[in-house]
Amino acid sequence: MSKTTVLTGITTTGTPHLGNYVGAIRPAIDASRNHGVRPFYFLADYHALIKCQEPERVRQSTLEVAATWLALGLDTDNAVFYRQSDVPEIAELAWMLSCVTAKGLMNRAHAYKAAVQANQESGEADPDKGVTMGLFNYPILMAADILIFNAHKVPVGKDQIQHIEMARDIAGRFNHIYGEHFVIPEAVVSEETATLCGLDGRKMSKSYDNTIPLFVPEKQLRKLIMKIKTNSLEPGQPKDPDGCTLFGIYRAFATKEEVEALRQRYAEGAGWGEIKQFLFEYLNDHLTAARERYEALIQEPDRIERALLEGAEKARAHSQPFMKKLRGSVGIRGLAG
Ligand code: TRP
Repeated sequence: MSKTTVLTGITTTGTPHLGNYVGAIRPAIDASRNHGVRPFYFLADYHALIKCQEPERVRQSTLEVAATWLALGLDTDNAVFYRQSDVPEIAELAWMLSCVTAKGLMNRAHAYKAAVQANQESGEADPDKGVTMGLFNYPILMAADILIFNAHKVPVGKDQIQHIEMARDIAGRFNHIYGEHFVIPEAVVSEETATLCGLDGRKMSKSYDNTIPLFVPEKQLRKLIMKIKTNSLEPGQPKDPDGCTLFGIYRAFATKEEVEALRQRYAEGAGWGEIKQFLFEYLNDHLTAARERYEALIQEPDRIERALLEGAEKARAHSQPFMKKLRGSVGIRGLAG
């Protein structure tokens, strides 16, 4: 029996942070070692263009994301790890899919609706101001990412569930018109992965500018942890670990026993400075080996490039013949044969 294909994409617009690591990267890397499934993980650089028109940032982020995943031990023998733009069949399929997708379906996409609503609320006369066709079509590109490899399972955050629903719709529509070509994919939303809070206590997110990058140098890591907002309780006063940003981060890394021990220290009134120093040392120990591998890789972009091109070759072994079949199915084929 053929393996289950699990596929997910990472948009290359930022530097991976602790929240990305705990919520998405770590579970995906763990899954890459499960030889019962075939993971497809890719750098969604075409998606990056929707949000970011700074070429250097897109390039730098692509390098950092790739180096991060490789440094953390992604099993590239089992997982197919590639850059979206190295697989031209994806963009080609996106066009074919857009020809079977109702515009009305895209009108309902959250990201587009949010942009329109923001315009309306600010009294803007044009509801579509600042909305590019890239943003509008984004769910179709995402459907192409998934359908081109006939992925069965797509691990995503809650905010992406609607896009998977749309991919299912679009796949069904194409299948109905042209025959059963596509697997109908399923979203996998993990409830147990932690969401971390950031420096200011809100959810750690690039859009709040409150992140702790995963592989910042040691000194900066310490500085950032010292900056995390706490309440004003003094040393000696018992503190509540639940809802505390520091405790939340610790819990995402530590064992059960370690977590209980820290809980005890909160109850006994450990000071914030002491807890922060403890968290810093713990995280630093946890991250140092991977950080060293990361820094070495960043110095050798050729190695990263080679790994990505190898991944693309493996990916295209599926996408090229499949695209040939899809072209044929819609009537785009040689006239002579
Ligand atoms: N849109 C996803 C995000 O912002 C990233 C992504 C692009 C993706 N293509 C995908 C995720 C295909 C899963 C499958 O998180």
